[in-house]
Amino acid sequence: MLVQSCVRAARPTGSVARQALRYASKRNASTSSSSSAEKSSWTSSILTGAGAAAVAGGSMAWYSQLYNNPLHAMTPAEEGLHPQAYPWEHQKLSKTYDHAALRRGFQVYREVCASCHSLFRIPYRSLVGVLMTTDEAKALAEENEYEGELDNEGEPTTRPGKLSDYLPSPYKNDEAARAANNGALPPDLSLMVKARHGGCDYIFNLLTGYPEDPPAGAVVQSGLNFNPYFPGTGIAMARVLYDGLVEYDDETPATTAQMAKDVTEFLNWAAEPEFDQRKKMGWKILSVTAILFGMSVWLKRYKWAPIKTRKIVYNRPVTNHTPRFTVDKTKKD
Ligand code: HEC
Repeated sequence: MLVQSCVRAARPTGSVARQALRYASKRNASTSSSSSAEKSSWTSSILTGAGAAAVAGGSMAWYSQLYNNPLHAMTPAEEGLHPQAYPWEHQKLSKTYDHAALRRGFQVYREVCASCHSLFRIPYRSLVGVLMTTDEAKALAEENEYEGELDNEGEPTTRPGKLSDYLPSPYKNDEAARAANNGALPPDLSLMVKARHGGCDYIFNLLTGYPEDPPAGAVVQSGLNFNPYFPGTGIAMARVLYDGLVEYDDETPATTAQMAKDVTEFLNWAAEPEFDQRKKMGWKILSVTAILFGMSVWLKRYKWAPIKTRKIVYNRPVTNHTPRFTVDKTKKD
C-alpha cells in the first residue's frame, strides 16, 4: 500500500522531468543548428565589452583632467624655489636623532635665533635626557625669571625658573615683536618644521639660501631680503648665520651649513620630541607582527595539510541491479 502511494506521488514529478528534458533537447537542437545566431551574440558581447571599456577609460580621462591638474593660486616664483632634499640622519630607517647635533642646534638657537624667535611650547623638563642632564636643565631654567606668587602686600613677585617652566619668549607680545622687526612677526619655532612644506629641507635651504646680492631683475621691497626659497622671495629676516658665529663645545667647526643643519635638526626635535620613541616602537611592532605572521602562515598550512592533501575516491558499489522494490502492474488501483 505504501509502495503504491509512493509511486503515484512520483508520477507527476516524472512527467515534469520528462517535459523539461524534451524542452532542453529542443533548445539544444535549435542553437546548434543556427550558427549565425551564435555569431551575432558573440559580436554583441564584444561590442558591450568595448563600450564598457570606452566608458571606463573616458571617465578616468575626465576625472584626471578635472583633478590631476591642480590650479595654483600663485606662480612657482611666488611659491618659492623647491627646497633641495638632504639625507637627514633621523630620516634614515634605523637611525634616531643625532643627539650631539641636537645639543649643538640648541646652542645655535639660544645664541642666535632666541633673540627674535620664541619656542614657547618647549618646557625645560623635556630637555632632560635628550640634550642635557637634569642638573644642567635646572641650572638653565634658573637663569631666567618667571612670574611668582603675589607677596603679602599683593604685589607680583618673580622667581627663578623651574624644570616645569617653558622656554622664555624674547618679546612680551606679538605687537612688541612686530615693532622690533620692522612690522614683521618672527613666528614661534616650536612647530615650524611641521608647519612648512618641505620641513627640514625648507628650513635648511632658507637659512643657507641668502645670495650675496639679489639676482639681476629681482625686485626686493625695502626692508626685505632676497631669498629664493621663501614664498614671494622677499623675507623680513636677514641672513643670520655666518661662519664661526658660535663656538661649539664639542669643537665642531661652526660653518654656516653646519649651524643651519644643527639648528634644523634641533627644531625638528622640538616639533616631534616623541620621534625616537615612536620609531623604536614601530620597529618592535614590525618585528613582533612579522613573527606572528610567519607563525600564522605555518599554522594555516599545518591545519589545512590533511584537507589539501586528501584524495577522494568513489568506489562504485558492486550490485546485481536487483530493484529495491517491484510494482505489481497487474494489480489494479
Ligand atoms: C633679527 C631677528 C631674527 C633672528 C635672529 C632670526 N630670525 Fe627668523 N625670522 C625673523 C622674522 C622677522 C621673520 C618673519 C619673516 C617674514 O615673515 O617675512 C622670521 C622668519 C623665520 C622663519 C619662517 C619663514 C617662513 O617660511 O615663514 C624661520 C623658519 C626662521 N625665521 C628661522 C630662524 C632661525 C632658525 C633662526 C636662528 C638661526 C632665526 N630665524 C633667527 C627674524 C629673525
